[in-house]
Amino acid sequence: MTLEGRVAFITGAASGIGRATAVLMAEAGATIVATDVNDKGLEETLSLLPKGSKSEKIVLDVSDSAAVNAVVVSVEERHGRLDIMANVAGIAFASAEEKRKVHEEMALIAQSLRERRPPRRPPEFFHHLTDDDFKRMLKVHLYGTFYCMRAAIPIMTRQSKGAIVNCSSAAAFLAPMSEAHYTAAKAAIVALTRNAATELGPRGIRVNAVAPGAIDTPMVRDGLMPEFLDMLMQTTPLQRMADPREVAEAILFLASDAGSYFTGQTLEPNGGIHSGL
Ligand SMILES: NC(=O)c1ccc[n+]([C@@H]2O[C@H](COP(=O)([O-])OP(=O)(O)OC[C@H]3O[C@@H](n4cnc5c(N)ncnc54)[C@H](O)[C@@H]3O)[C@@H](O)[C@H]2O)c1
Repeated sequence: MTLEGRVAFITGAASGIGRATAVLMAEAGATIVATDVNDKGLEETLSLLPKGSKSEKIVLDVSDSAAVNAVVVSVEERHGRLDIMANVAGIAFASAEEKRKVHEEMALIAQSLRERRPPRRPPEFFHHLTDDDFKRMLKVHLYGTFYCMRAAIPIMTRQSKGAIVNCSSAAAFLAPMSEAHYTAAKAAIVALTRNAATELGPRGIRVNAVAPGAIDTPMVRDGLMPEFLDMLMQTTPLQRMADPREVAEAILFLASDAGSYFTGQTLEPNGGIHSGL
């Protein structure tokens, strides 16, 4: 799978799946435009690319519409084209307070699991979500994906060619507890992907998504308590988390000519997981 001569724009490239995608696409010969809010993480990502790779890093918050527009336009100005866009940036919690509350509730459930009894009270996740947390989650995942896609379309239309890969989640289909806003955003990304694919196909632009299961990245290690991770592994037929590279392989496939007849689809590198927590 070669990406020689292609320019790949990747969000969330400072860590986890985005970083693995940058490395894999650089190995395939693409020029990498690595973007993220985390400048230090971007620096590390660039240091992991094969020697001689063409690359640059740009600090970009995908929830900032104007910044996204300006950066994407600047990519075309500098590189003359934009062939691939991988929208990977994401967050597990919208705020420190939300994370604290979720961990508190998870601890109660984990205790009941250890003691093999039902929880003392039903979990309280959904109605504790604040307006700000709900908006922030959608801003980063759904709006961020939309802003980036919208900015890429004029450039890819001029080229009559382009491949966009968005990042949904198994959560979109499994409805795990504690993640109502995350689940809603990830399900909406599947719909956004299909909608864009329908309209953009005639312009030569393919739009697909991946919906990963449990992937061994800081997001999961930080977001899930060990007991929950164990439960997740028990309901995952392959009985392990994936390396981020295993998701990046699916993104690379969809973005490359190997995936040339795929559009509007969501690939699920999820170890066969079929039931939620
Ligand atoms: N790890 C998993 O198990 C898993 C499962 C399903 C889906 N996903 C999705 O995969 C994507 C990547 O997650 P990951 O596991 O690699 O997490 P990660 O935390 O390792 O990486 C996420 C990256 O996104 C960046 N980011 C956060 N907010 C941003 C913003 N506003 N603008 C730009 N960058 C921002 C972070 O700085 C970080 O570098 C996310 O969309 C996540 O929801 C992850």
